[in-house]
Amino acid sequence: MISQHMNRSTLDIVQNPYPFYEEIRSIHPVYKGNLLKYPGWYVTGYEEAVAILKDDRFQTRIPLPETTKKYEALKDIQQHMMLFKNPPDHARLRMLVSHHFTPHRIEKYRPFIEKIAKDLLNETKNNKKIEVISDFAYPLASLVIAKIMGIPDDHTNIFREWALNLIQSIDLTRSRRSIVDGNKTTLKMLSFFKDLIHTRRQSPENDLVSELIQQEKDWKLTEEELLATSVLLVIAGHETTVNLMSNSLYCFLTNPKAYHKLIENPYLIESSIEECLRYESPTQMVARVASSDVELNKIQIKKGDHVYVLIGAANRDPKQFSNADVFDITRHPNPHLAFGSGIHFCLGSTLARLEAQIAIQTILQNVENIYLVTKEVKWRKLVGFRAMKEMQVHLD
Ligand code: HEM
Repeated sequence: MISQHMNRSTLDIVQNPYPFYEEIRSIHPVYKGNLLKYPGWYVTGYEEAVAILKDDRFQTRIPLPETTKKYEALKDIQQHMMLFKNPPDHARLRMLVSHHFTPHRIEKYRPFIEKIAKDLLNETKNNKKIEVISDFAYPLASLVIAKIMGIPDDHTNIFREWALNLIQSIDLTRSRRSIVDGNKTTLKMLSFFKDLIHTRRQSPENDLVSELIQQEKDWKLTEEELLATSVLLVIAGHETTVNLMSNSLYCFLTNPKAYHKLIENPYLIESSIEECLRYESPTQMVARVASSDVELNKIQIKKGDHVYVLIGAANRDPKQFSNADVFDITRHPNPHLAFGSGIHFCLGSTLARLEAQIAIQTILQNVENIYLVTKEVKWRKLVGFRAMKEMQVHLD
């Protein structure tokens, strides 16, 4: 179904959301409306987005409609994820996992990530044309999170379908059917992780799942929380990270001057990935609900109102970023919101940044010539995420 949003179809928005963001921002940076089928406040202003994400009167919530028995497993698992928890419960679950994702711990994975990236690229050497997501970004992200969590390599393929299904079931474009599919997927994932947790209980290994099991008592972690944390990390580690790598490459292939600048100045890799995060943010939207009446820049937001923070729009707000629509790998400072802000700031940001930097560097160092096979890539029908269906590139 194509629904109309300020005379734009969902498909137009999915292909290129930025003119739509600009249009609503020009009416008001905190726009009240019924866009994308859901009534609420649509936040496109940077300053306002930060204020909301840092204010705990705006709470995170489970992204499901009033549930029926049909979605019970999906609702139950989301209920135990830190992503959908508010203070004080949120801190316990986050602290349990956060020390596994510190820069010091993540840096240790650098040689492993570099090796996989190189191996994957070598495997494509005989093909002049590759599909970046299936042949490179997905297996790279998948093998890395599997290694951290302790998931056997031969299982990584099934996660692709699971991740796609779960993301579709939480996006605003979802249908009832996709929620039912998300529920089925949840049941499969639960069964998978129950088995894995059982095996690691018997014989622990040097991985995150084994460590979480060891900390269970000290942190008063329930079995449901252990399962929900595992599912959250695996889905987050797959979906958005794949999109960060493929979107980053897309930014460079559509901005050849920036690509050549990076080849000549390899030290720009960190600021380049920050600019990719800002320019084509893999997460485009996060949702909140007001837990009390709130006045924000003379706007009255009522208790119970839904608030949609359009990260992808805030990251292009001209009041915050000069030449916001220009891809500039030397941009400094670059305080983008691609990983969110406030207490739910992305736990995997250091890992995701490292993976994207290595992915782009590996291509840069090993490929002489690379270009997009089709001019216009197709994006998946999602409004909360910026994710390509596929990206064919020619390389030699
Ligand atoms: C290895 C990769 C990743 C892992 C393991 C991971 C994990 C997580 C976790 C556990 C949270 C919840 C934190 C909390 O509630 O306190 C989170 C939040 C978030 N992540 Fe990630 N993430 C990864 C990659 C990414 C990427 C590439 C992006 C996009 C650039 C991203 C964007 C976000 C955002 C925007 C939030 C905040 C959501 C909100 O405020 O509602 N993540 N991530």
